[in-house]
Amino acid sequence: MNNEMVRIKAENVNFYYGQKQALKNISLDVYQNKVTALIGPSGCGKSTFIRLLNRMNDLVPRTRVEGNIFLDNVDINRGQIDVVDLRRRVGMVFQKPNPFPKSIFENLNYGLKVNGCKNRAEREKKIISALQKAALWQEVKDRLNESALGLSGGQQQRLCIARCLAVNPEVILFDEPCASLDPISTRYIEELILELKRDYTIVIVTHNMQQAARISDFTAFLYLGELIEFGLTEKIFTVPTQKMTEEYLSGKFG
Ligand SMILES: Nc1ncnc2c1ncn2[C@@H]1O[C@H](COP(=O)(O)OP(=O)(O)OP(=O)(O)O)[C@@H](O)[C@H]1O
Ligand SMILES: [Mg+2]
Repeated sequence: MNNEMVRIKAENVNFYYGQKQALKNISLDVYQNKVTALIGPSGCGKSTFIRLLNRMNDLVPRTRVEGNIFLDNVDINRGQIDVVDLRRRVGMVFQKPNPFPKSIFENLNYGLKVNGCKNRAEREKKIISALQKAALWQEVKDRLNESALGLSGGQQQRLCIARCLAVNPEVILFDEPCASLDPISTRYIEELILELKRDYTIVIVTHNMQQAARISDFTAFLYLGELIEFGLTEKIFTVPTQKMTEEYLSGKFG
């Protein structure tokens, strides 16, 4: 585990919504080209933590972060960080597919323009490549100018993944990406995530223990804002060191 390259390093992170502390002294490493799963009962702080990694919590008023989060050794909360560029490098896919109410093409074209890709032919190339990587190209290549809202839920989620890939991210954050999908679409996304980890670093929040076991390399178990245990998924699921982890995984609470 120590031979792996650390891409994101959280050190002693506390996070507050107003007076309420949602994360307590979290230290966690995210390894390059690995899938890191965040698990734990509802309200334990999984979404709060994942949103810190690309500063999505900035959008929530009266919040405060303490401690350090490094992306490639640069503290993302200090100094001259360009948040738009941070969110390009650390992309995010949400629980509910959230395509823009625009054409399939425009969903990807927009982010490329915002990120300064001025040449239309170049954008088209990137759009096709992203749709291919997200395993959606075959299904949409004849309807690129139709509304994204006409796609199925699973297709919309793959479109959101493609939108994220189009701007060439390094890390992809998934917050329960399969929560609103049927089992077949879920399997599709899981397989896709396993493909994507060859080129990207992935952090995923999931309520589905089987999913965490199937697709992640590392697992972090959070409870009431604390990191109870972190380690290789195989180890966490077979021989957890904390009694609480074992109880959670065996369904005793949560
Ligand atoms: N915008 C907010 N304002 C105030 N408190 C919040 C806000 N968002 C989350 N919280 C609180 O912070 C704590 C952690 O919430 P968070 O959404 O991170 O949990 P979670 O582990 O993602 O839960 P779930 O599995 O239900 O998605 C909870 O107590 C929640 O009520
Ligand atoms: Mg959540």
